[in-house]
Amino acid sequence: MQTAISVEQIRKDFPILQRKVRNDKSLVYLDNAATTQKPIQVINVITDFYTNHNSNIHRAVHALAEEATEAYEMTRDKVANFLNIKDRQEIVFVRGTTEAINLVAYAWGRQNIKEGDIIVTTEYEHHSNIVPWQLLTQEKKAKLEYIGIDDNGELILSHLDQFLATGKVKLVAVSQMSNVLGTITDVATIIAKCKKAGVRVLIDGAQSVPHMKVDLSAMGCDFFAFSGHKMLGPTGVGVLWAKKELLEQMAPFHGGGDMIREVHKYETTWNDLPYKFEAGTPNIADVIGFAAAIDYLNNLGMDYVRAHEVEITKYALEQLSKINGLKLYGTPDMSKRGGVISFNFADIHPHDLATIIDEDGIAIRSGHHCAQVLMEKLDIAATSRASFYIYNTKEEVDVLINSLARAARLFKL
Ligand code: ALA
Repeated sequence: MQTAISVEQIRKDFPILQRKVRNDKSLVYLDNAATTQKPIQVINVITDFYTNHNSNIHRAVHALAEEATEAYEMTRDKVANFLNIKDRQEIVFVRGTTEAINLVAYAWGRQNIKEGDIIVTTEYEHHSNIVPWQLLTQEKKAKLEYIGIDDNGELILSHLDQFLATGKVKLVAVSQMSNVLGTITDVATIIAKCKKAGVRVLIDGAQSVPHMKVDLSAMGCDFFAFSGHKMLGPTGVGVLWAKKELLEQMAPFHGGGDMIREVHKYETTWNDLPYKFEAGTPNIADVIGFAAAIDYLNNLGMDYVRAHEVEITKYALEQLSKINGLKLYGTPDMSKRGGVISFNFADIHPHDLATIIDEDGIAIRSGHHCAQVLMEKLDIAATSRASFYIYNTKEEVDVLINSLARAARLFKL
């Protein structure tokens, strides 16, 4: 479904895109995999909350508390509708993907992982989906194994079969889209294999939920994590979704207000789901702002979001592949990748390249992208990465290409 809204109209909703940055150049923001920009609709909701409704939630009976609580809980319903989640009690607000995965590692992992068990992840995970499992497996004397990647940057699923055949795997934790290669993971196949083997699956949706339609009822995983700030929302808001039976069995992650039913000197009983996992005053204003981000994406339609990114990414890949000495990573097959392009240009260090093109107003990320295991696998220290979103245009890709030509002249390539 194509939206009736043009990219030019979309761009008008993002005040920051009017900015001039270095050398009075117009901002070309291509660092969307790190965080996206925020539309005025999200900014206004947060301003309105602090201007007119600010209050703590779930506690007092006064008017402001009621308004704040209602708006906060309405976001939960919007998340449920957005991802086709049937039970709102399965939606836990957290700070972001990292906290969601740590919550599972702590609250589920410590109860369920024992000496000799195996947790499986992949070589293209970002650190948030590696380090919590390292901490857990080290503590429990369990083992962490990696599904490898092939030359196209796709997972070698026969590795998963080999791990499952040991009968020791308890959890498979995999991202639905690589933040470096852009590879879209075949989660349906992974989940089907794991279900057959009675193995739990955690899907990291940090890079997928912002960019494509995700239906959690259809997907069938056990845990799902994502962040609001990579999908037009504020920083500091994310979601852990998990099956109710699992959340019920799990111990709390943080102790404090709101997650309790009764506290006595030496014992406490827990509140109902999802509050058992939402201790303390949450990030109220930003959760409420996140609802406006979901509204914005719903208004465009996720099919449009994906189609726009495919168009821009395809164009960018075509233009970049014409540049001598520029190495692209990941699959050229757009049906298997999202709007993330990692590359290296001759022997220019990615940080130097990013600094040069920043002079033309272009924001890209350079470095290891919080994915050092992948860098080791690719035998490189770093890449440059351009990542696209709903407001990017082919003209901006042309600005990037011209800037890379300038870098080539500077380095006498
Ligand atoms: N994981 C984020 C990125 O890819 C921070 O930039």
